[in-house]
Amino acid sequence: MKILNNKVALVTGSSRGIGAEIVQQFGKSGAKVVINYNGSKEKAEEVVHAIITKGGEAIAVQADVSKPEDVARLFDATIAHFGKIDILVNNAGLMLNSSIKDAADDLFEKQMNVNVKGVFNTLREASTKLADHGSIINFSSTVTRTIFPTYGIYSATKAAVEQISKVFAKEIGSRGINVNCVLPGPTSTELFLKGKPDEVIAKLAGTNAFNRLGTPEDIAKIVVFLASDESKWISAQSIGANGGMA
Ligand SMILES: NC(=O)c1ccc[n+]([C@@H]2O[C@H](COP(=O)([O-])OP(=O)(O)OC[C@H]3O[C@@H](n4cnc5c(N)ncnc54)[C@H](OP(=O)(O)O)[C@@H]3O)[C@@H](O)[C@H]2O)c1
Repeated sequence: MKILNNKVALVTGSSRGIGAEIVQQFGKSGAKVVINYNGSKEKAEEVVHAIITKGGEAIAVQADVSKPEDVARLFDATIAHFGKIDILVNNAGLMLNSSIKDAADDLFEKQMNVNVKGVFNTLREASTKLADHGSIINFSSTVTRTIFPTYGIYSATKAAVEQISKVFAKEIGSRGINVNCVLPGPTSTELFLKGKPDEVIAKLAGTNAFNRLGTPEDIAKIVVFLASDESKWISAQSIGANGGMA
């Protein structure tokens, strides 16, 4: 018996990076999965293909999580295809770093719209459309603990995700649904690696107990546990997934 047998999972932003690894681990663990993407249609279809080739069930659905109407359509499409939703993972996110002094308005608006409003949009849908005894895992970041210069707006969006998750856990707990946040440290994806010189990457990789970058697989395994019935008594928690960094 696989740990996620008979469960249906919706993972936002799972065309690439950590999300793509989560849906593949979910597929291996017996869940049927919906791969949400915004722009990366081909990559999302490759992920669907990889899961189906290994005997799993998956579909891809385009939706911009910052748009309430897209998110409603995403939930409805999942239920129309698989009959229910047991697991919601809010993984879609943007990181656009800048000092506060140099930050343009659109840097603020883009990150707020995807990272915060996107999570709000899905939680509101989940409050009526997620099945009883389901699981919600939202993505924050270890930068809410490390306080790095230039991460002001990004880390503020993630702090908002942690707070809304804790409140929502109390609001929806009577239906047996648990809600937690995962806080990855530096993890080898485009979001983290893009534009960083090798010495900066090495320095950041050296800030955890294992002296290496996290991998999408490190994070996805934690998400599988939090999506399973084994972790039901954990709720309203912010869980560091960072090799002891902070
Ligand atoms: N990597 C790290 O070091 C790290 C550390 C801490 C936290 N995190 C968090 O972990 C999560 C995943 O990050 P990652 O490193 O895997 O990022 P990534 O490689 O850049 O992938 C981001 C994913 O989000 C999707 N996305 C972006 N905007 C979207 C929107 N408006 N609607 C729907 N999907 C959207 C992208 O889809 P399309 O390509 O289809 O647009 C893509 O699948 C994020 O929440 C990030 O903040 C990452």
